[in-house]
Amino acid sequence: MPGILHLLEITGSRHTIILPEGERMKGNEQVINQLNARLAEELTAINQYFVHAEMCENWGYKRLHDMIFKRSIQEMKHAEKLIARILFLEGVPIVSKLNKLQIGSKIPEMHTNDQAAELAAIRGYNESIRLATEAGDNGTRELLNSILKEEEEHIDLIEAQIDQIGQMGVQNYLVEQID
Ligand SMILES: [Fe+2]
Ligand SMILES: [Fe+2]
Repeated sequence: MPGILHLLEITGSRHTIILPEGERMKGNEQVINQLNARLAEELTAINQYFVHAEMCENWGYKRLHDMIFKRSIQEMKHAEKLIARILFLEGVPIVSKLNKLQIGSKIPEMHTNDQAAELAAIRGYNESIRLATEAGDNGTRELLNSILKEEEEHIDLIEAQIDQIGQMGVQNYLVEQID
């Protein structure tokens, strides 16, 4: 209805912003496309890590299961934040698109496949941050930055696993993962 004011409440704030109708926050289309591309990667990672975690559980490598499962849940939280941001920018979150899952048949291969997924995510987030900055969308830039930091922690932990396998051999490494 024309003339009616929208009331946007900022979560966690006592301030209320009143905008005339038609002046709602609308995101740059390129930024929304970037957020959807990152969302597809996150949804793919959730599934890939979830399968890897369950394979580890099935083989009795509990420590490894817990580590990979926790990472899968963190990717889910990233997906949730991306969806919330796309909706805030009045875009449509695409949750039906998955990239190809790279499931490893053995533990070292799982780690290298997950490392590749994290590397792609880090490249993607850096590119999206660059575009959000260019578009003057600092809110999106800050969100992407916080996710990027967690992806860097993920790859750090995965690369530590790969290094350990290199240093102690895969059999000794796997003995450590049983409990
Ligand atoms: Fe993520
Ligand atoms: Fe990650």
